[in-house]
Amino acid sequence: MSEAPENPTAEITPEQLREVLHTRFGTDEVAPFSAINPTILRQLQHRSLRRFSDRPVTDDELTAVLTAAQAASNSSNHNSWSVVVVRDQAHKTELKPLIGDQPFIDKAPVLLFWVADLYRAHRLAERAERPTVGTELFEATLVSFIDASLAAQNAAVAAESLGLGITYIGGARNHPLETAASLGLPPHTAVVFGMTLGWPSPTDRSGVRPRPPQRLIVHHERYDTDVLGDLDAYDRTINDFFASYGRNFDWIDYVTSHFSSEADFYGREHLLEQIRDLGFPSR
Ligand SMILES: Cc1cc2nc3c(=O)[nH]c(=O)nc-3n(C[C@H](O)[C@H](O)[C@H](O)COP(=O)(O)O)c2cc1C
Repeated sequence: MSEAPENPTAEITPEQLREVLHTRFGTDEVAPFSAINPTILRQLQHRSLRRFSDRPVTDDELTAVLTAAQAASNSSNHNSWSVVVVRDQAHKTELKPLIGDQPFIDKAPVLLFWVADLYRAHRLAERAERPTVGTELFEATLVSFIDASLAAQNAAVAAESLGLGITYIGGARNHPLETAASLGLPPHTAVVFGMTLGWPSPTDRSGVRPRPPQRLIVHHERYDTDVLGDLDAYDRTINDFFASYGRNFDWIDYVTSHFSSEADFYGREHLLEQIRDLGFPSR
């Protein structure tokens, strides 16, 4: 067995880490730590990328990203996920209105569709002439959505470690049946989300969106339900962040308005029935 590589912490100074943490949280309140390395530093600097340069994503880079995705943990070693790579411009143009019509989608050199996949399990069961009762449980659906998500985040981290940028596309659940048809998905598969992949444009000025204070998210031994004061503090931080880009934003209003009705779900309010139609009965 090979020895673990030395942790190259010497490259990252405490001042550098403090600055990165300040940007990540929009405040100096977050506790610094010394277990830092280039992997963690890169993760702390994550931001979604929606403006791409003309630089193509090579097959080799894509292979690296997707191979890293396959290395993610997966439930029961069933590997209940797949990914569909879309590079063809006409195909991207066809998919764009189905997945939220967001302007940057067809500008990305690569679109990845992360797929919850019980098709292969069904094929195996069919050949073995065995029942598939277990695939009808909500647990089986959940597991395939979880596996696809874990693989996608492995891909995201790998891509960003190479200097590429990604944005997840939840809009890929707006029209699940049409999107599945466009991707040629077999039964018992569904798109969990899409992802754009490309090199950052030199004109991209998107920032690192501050995260909530850690005490809201990380609990020790028992969940601390006293959240409102810290949520108000985060509201001020994230609103100031958007104000620095000239955007008038009210995060609390945004969250509460989103959940106040079904209006903001772009068709996803019908997801359960549509996922059933795709072969995830989920009882
Ligand atoms: C599952 C998922 C779906 C998302 N869908 C979209 C999307 O359709 N369009 C978009 O512009 N960003 C989308 N995002 C990106 C989020 O808006 C973004 O991650 C969040 O605002 C935090 O910003 P950051 O990624 O730059 O830190 C999605 C993120 C996730 C995790």
